[in-house]
Amino acid sequence: MALDIFKITGPVSLAGAVTISGSKNAALPIMAATILAPGKNTLLGIPNLSDISVMCKLMEDMGCKTNADGGSIAIDTTNIEKPFGDYEIVRKMRAGVCVLGPLLARQGRAEVSMPGGCAIGYRPVDIHLRGLQELGAKIELKNGYIVAHANGGLKGTNIFLGGPFGSSVLATANVLSAAVLAKGKTVIESAACEPEVTDLANCLVKMGAKISGIGSPQLTIHGVKHLNPVEYTVIPDRIEAGTFLAAAAITKGKLKLKNCRLEHLMAVVDKLRSMNIPVEETQDGCEISSNGRIQPTDITTLPYPGFPTDLQAQFMAVLCLANGNSVITEKIFPDRFMHIAELSRMAANLRKEGPHVIVSGVEKLIAAPVMASDLRASAALVVAALAAYGQTVVNRVYHIDRGYEKIEEKLNAVGAKIERQSV
Ligand code: UD1
Repeated sequence: MALDIFKITGPVSLAGAVTISGSKNAALPIMAATILAPGKNTLLGIPNLSDISVMCKLMEDMGCKTNADGGSIAIDTTNIEKPFGDYEIVRKMRAGVCVLGPLLARQGRAEVSMPGGCAIGYRPVDIHLRGLQELGAKIELKNGYIVAHANGGLKGTNIFLGGPFGSSVLATANVLSAAVLAKGKTVIESAACEPEVTDLANCLVKMGAKISGIGSPQLTIHGVKHLNPVEYTVIPDRIEAGTFLAAAAITKGKLKLKNCRLEHLMAVVDKLRSMNIPVEETQDGCEISSNGRIQPTDITTLPYPGFPTDLQAQFMAVLCLANGNSVITEKIFPDRFMHIAELSRMAANLRKEGPHVIVSGVEKLIAAPVMASDLRASAALVVAALAAYGQTVVNRVYHIDRGYEKIEEKLNAVGAKIERQSV
């Protein structure tokens, strides 16, 4: 693994236009869902990211053929030789667990590693397993693997998929992907409503699945016997877009985001407006213009359409420079605060009280060497560094490379000063 670092010189003020890439979190479960449609599938709008390569590797290991070519991926799922998800892959990327539902539905059996631990806290898969068991799967845990069988096939039923923190995005993806080939009718209550789940459902419908209630917490699925391969374009990445909005906000910048769906970012736009930062819709995206002192605001992360947990760290960075105190409450992953210690090294004033963080705005952030700990926390460090005085060195940028396509090139094209170095 290349241990690249970023050297970021600030403060800068961003100006210009940025094109948002396709959504990583929509692409991963959709790639897994092509297992349900034997043949040649083509996915478009796929970002060139290490997580996508990891999913290709996982699918190739089981006998699929993948070919990535500048934003599109051809996945030939004609042959599945072994319905297996290796620990070495799934421990690196939790979304690997998305192959479980499709494999079970198509092959009647699957063996997929339990995902490993993660810097954002304990992330169980009990909701995934419960949902699949309700569809008739027999599931055992053996040597760290989920071993699932559906000998008589899966059968539709009514499933409540809520957990202690509300709905689950990937559990909904897994159970939905299994139910489309189950016998009879399945109703999923408390389904996740995230746009990435909607995108998966739309792709499944294009393959021939019968799903109603798409985008709502109640999905009704009438099982079909088989699905057909598709060509499908994934939605733009709302988290990448939100990260650029945060970068514009903190640098008092003016950015146009192209290929961005503002309707997926309403909670974020609402918060930016209360911070005195207007965002306007344009024909293919939006425009943000930040000047003057940022106003403090309170943010609570919630399942969609609430404020996304995947933007909590980046907006904490922005609020570090607000004109007063803000409170950030994390309701999805209560331990997702690895960035506090690193932002504090840059002279931020932060105090954690359980799942709440009190952010006392400071006049300026000061560059420091910092360590990326996970994908979105590292994005927050880049956002902070753009506004910090001096040269910030961000270590372990491979975390950022998992989820942001050419982030330094995109930011440098609108006025950032970021240098990537291999160490
Ligand atoms: C997905 C996203 C991730 C995002 C998260 C929440 C992908 C690849 N990842 O992760 O970027 O931060 O949604 O929007 O799309 N939970 C359980 N049991 C389970 C599953 C989840 O208790 O079986 C809990 C989790 O610990 C968490 C909450 O439910 O507290 C929501 O997690 P979930 O929506 O499942 O996150 P992921 O789908 O893993």
